[in-house]
Amino acid sequence: MPQTLYGGTRNRRVTVRDLALAKERGEKWPMLTAYDAMTASVFDEAGIPVLLVGDSAGNCHLGYETTVPVTLDQMTMLTAAVVRGTEQALVVADLPFGSYQEGEVQALRSATRLIKEAGAGAVKLEGGERSADQIALLVRSGIPVMAHIGLTPQSVHAMGYRVQGRGEEAADGLMRDAKAVQDAGAFAVVLEMVPAPVAAEVTRALHVPTVGIGAGADCDAQVLVWTDMAGLTPGKLPRFVKRYAELRGALGEAAHAFAQDVVDGSFPAAEHSYA
Ligand code: KIV
Repeated sequence: MPQTLYGGTRNRRVTVRDLALAKERGEKWPMLTAYDAMTASVFDEAGIPVLLVGDSAGNCHLGYETTVPVTLDQMTMLTAAVVRGTEQALVVADLPFGSYQEGEVQALRSATRLIKEAGAGAVKLEGGERSADQIALLVRSGIPVMAHIGLTPQSVHAMGYRVQGRGEEAADGLMRDAKAVQDAGAFAVVLEMVPAPVAAEVTRALHVPTVGIGAGADCDAQVLVWTDMAGLTPGKLPRFVKRYAELRGALGEAAHAFAQDVVDGSFPAAEHSYA
């Protein structure tokens, strides 16, 4: 058994039980999104224990403006690629908008595709009390569920992209949501764009891990969208993002250098050619 989730040696995939034990030990862990096999293999080799095939693929991979248009077929294809590219990470696949809101049976049918066809180890869905019935049936059916409360991007047309849980009433609502998804059986809860003190209180109140994104330092885990954290996403990013690389600039420079070499005839050189 690995002693730690990150940095431990392991010859099997991370399980939801490993995450529960990490919370008991007070160990924090990182989660990144991934949408393709090659990028996922880089993160897997780096020891990231949980990879989320987020429906942020809509904005970051598929060219949509929001996550709303992403389909279950697309999520199934992207998830299968991430599973093929990894050996150790727990792969969590997002249920996209419209694939679970009708009720428990629709949620089970959709989640089953992500588990059976794509090979995900768990699914994630948005919503607190409003999604508790769906979570309960999935968990009863043997499908681990990560919940997602606070800012829920699939509801962008109703709530916009604003901090959630500000003020006493909203903070109480967030706590109710967190407890509802835990009681329904979720193994972890994403808290998105929530004031840090509120997220800290929720983290203390739950026995399952919280995964923060824009929710301060006291969550049990932290997630970032990989294209944001690696500096590939263009334009202004939310305040909660830290950029750990500047891939957009590096890729652009590589493309310019290649183009220049082709134009001036220096590529391909003799060593790139067959005699
Ligand atoms: O889709 C996604 O990438 C997510 C994370 C931002 C948590 O839901």
